Amino acid sequence: MKPIRSLARRAALALAATAAAAGAAAVHAQGSTADEIAKYRQMLAEGNPAELWEAAGEELWKKPAGPKNASLEQCDLGKGPGVTKGAYAELPRYFKDANKVMDLEQRLAWCRVTLQGLTKEEATRNPFSASGKPSDIERLVAYLTGESRGVKMNVQLNHPEEKRTYALGQKMFFYRGGAYDFACATCHAVDGQRIRLQDLPNLLTDKGAQAAYTTWPAYRVSQGEVRSMQHRLYDCLRQQRFPEPAYGSDVITALTMFLAKNANGGTYDGPAMKR
Ligand code: HEC
Repeated sequence: MKPIRSLARRAALALAATAAAAGAAAVHAQGSTADEIAKYRQMLAEGNPAELWEAAGEELWKKPAGPKNASLEQCDLGKGPGVTKGAYAELPRYFKDANKVMDLEQRLAWCRVTLQGLTKEEATRNPFSASGKPSDIERLVAYLTGESRGVKMNVQLNHPEEKRTYALGQKMFFYRGGAYDFACATCHAVDGQRIRLQDLPNLLTDKGAQAAYTTWPAYRVSQGEVRSMQHRLYDCLRQQRFPEPAYGSDVITALTMFLAKNANGGTYDGPAMKR
């Protein structure tokens, strides 16, 4: 008993000391929560668990699967069949074969259907991990986004469909509705706004859009999972009290186009790590 009690006492003392130090720090530094989170991120930056998702995603990418027993290695993400490096930094974009603008996840589903022979239903099933139900899509997305790490965001509006999609995303960003009459803009179009302790990025500025867009997907410490941008947008639409969008729907691609284009010039740095 004795060692346990003294251990517990030492732990309690250590905690008290930490709390006192934290209290003192809080007096000196306003906004210390954001600082603490930044420090925490830096501390763990050396070993982001998202690397495990990336490695698993690469394996899935290269493994023959589906009725056609084919890998995804010949998937054209916009820079030619099989080119993964830098592809995400140019998405969403117009694809001639599908005659539409696609984001990464729509394109991934397209390749799983056309190359591997899955049905669309099978190719879009289980997009977000739940406990005991890991998502292949999240892993593939972690791998493919990681292939653009260090690449400058460069989303183009050359094709009329790309322009149209961007305009739709912009409209959606400002569209108010739901029980609270909120738009994305209600929470994300002002500098220095926050909900409780969370800083809300101003997604209409270069800096705000770049910082936000280039760091998703992210390993979420609070959830123990790597979450995609689709998941982030789901979460925001929920906070906005909007109906849940269908996975991979065109409205999500339009919002993604708006955010990605606004982030042009920023260096992609995901999958990152977040609260
Ligand atoms: C009710 C307020 C609210 C609304 C409305 C809202 N969001 Fe958010 N958003 C948040 C909060 C809270 C966070 C998390 C901030 C954090 O954890 O640091 C967030 C985070 C984000 C992020 C990630 C920022 C980052 O740096 O990681 C993006 C991108 C985003 N929102 C986009 C949107 C879009 C697009 C819409 C409209 C479809 C929207 N949000 C609507 C509250 C909102």
